[in-house]
Amino acid sequence: MSGSLTAQAREKKEIRVAQGTQRSLPAEQASLSFADNDYLGLSRHPRVTEAAVRAIRDAGTGARAARHLAGSCREHAGLEKALAGWKGTEAALVFSSGYQTPLGVIPCLVGPKDTVLLERNAHACLFDGARLSGARLRLFLRNSRESLEEALVSNRKLNPQGKVLLVAESLHSMDGDFAELEFLAELKERFGAWLLLDEAHANGVVGPEGAGWAAERGCAHRIDIHMGTLGKSLGSSGGFVAASAEIIDHFLNEARTFLYGTAPAPAAMAAATEALAVLGSAEGNRLRENLQRNILLYASLHPASRQGPIQPWILKSNDVTVRARNHLRSLGLEVAAIRPPTVPEGTARLRISLSARHSPAEVRRLVEELARFPAE
Ligand SMILES: Cc1ncc(COP(=O)(O)O)c(C=O)c1O
Repeated sequence: MSGSLTAQAREKKEIRVAQGTQRSLPAEQASLSFADNDYLGLSRHPRVTEAAVRAIRDAGTGARAARHLAGSCREHAGLEKALAGWKGTEAALVFSSGYQTPLGVIPCLVGPKDTVLLERNAHACLFDGARLSGARLRLFLRNSRESLEEALVSNRKLNPQGKVLLVAESLHSMDGDFAELEFLAELKERFGAWLLLDEAHANGVVGPEGAGWAAERGCAHRIDIHMGTLGKSLGSSGGFVAASAEIIDHFLNEARTFLYGTAPAPAAMAAATEALAVLGSAEGNRLRENLQRNILLYASLHPASRQGPIQPWILKSNDVTVRARNHLRSLGLEVAAIRPPTVPEGTARLRISLSARHSPAEVRRLVEELARFPAE
């Protein structure tokens, strides 16, 4: 019968239901959100929303075509210039989403004769980009120098001629820990590899003008390809890479997720450009200070907390995690219930995102309610 699923697909659903990993979209979410990635509250900042409205009036609601055809607007070029300046690179290129960015760029850098070295718990888009490239995929333990060095040494023996692309997340999306960049940079230099750093969650949050973790650690110049999204701290949507002019020109000509899709909406570009301007202003400093205040407050109230805005609360059981999320939702607090396969089996968790827009009273209230939930 047309439109019906295969037995295999149906079986997958049965397994998901049995394991407590079946997903559905909530009809409504609680009004106080600790579940999104708007770490500075810029998605509703008046300057940012005004910039988007202006761009809609000037350029229309959609880009109407791919960039290299009729879709390139001054909003794209303006944002790319601002992103390159922010990251201290020669050039930048925007994509329709952060997810599509590594799917486009990783296959431009490596192929079947090469190797991608990836953190074992890396984001799905980094895995998918690596797989799409056809390169051999080797995993290493995040923040383990020993594990990475071992992988590099054994890879050099197995594949001495191939290029190596090292890929890491600067602030981990689910564990909330920062990467130890110094040894990543040192080893990539020693082994002649490239380093692609996904700063999806660190951009806006740390570094001078919120330019990210590499900028914070003073090693931005050692990163070959800076990757980020416009959909988190920048309050908009889209993804980007920043790198040398030569590398960006290569992506512009070869990255399939850039070439073969309608360009991102000009309004999203204008919003992100204005968000960058806010980040670089005194207000940007104030927003980062507010976020930091909330992170420190959370840490003072909750043991085993992280240094950044992403605070995992590991409950292990899928069912308990969903119950905790539903319980908090019934109290008007939204947190994310994260289950496998997004995180490893047995590590289901609530993912709490702190933002500059939260008041100290709101953070306190969340922690009090978390403490009251009986984690069987
Ligand atoms: C580490 C990381 N990289 C990339 C992405 C994808 O970005 P986007 O949401 O813009 O598609 C995400 C989104 O969750 C992420 O967490």
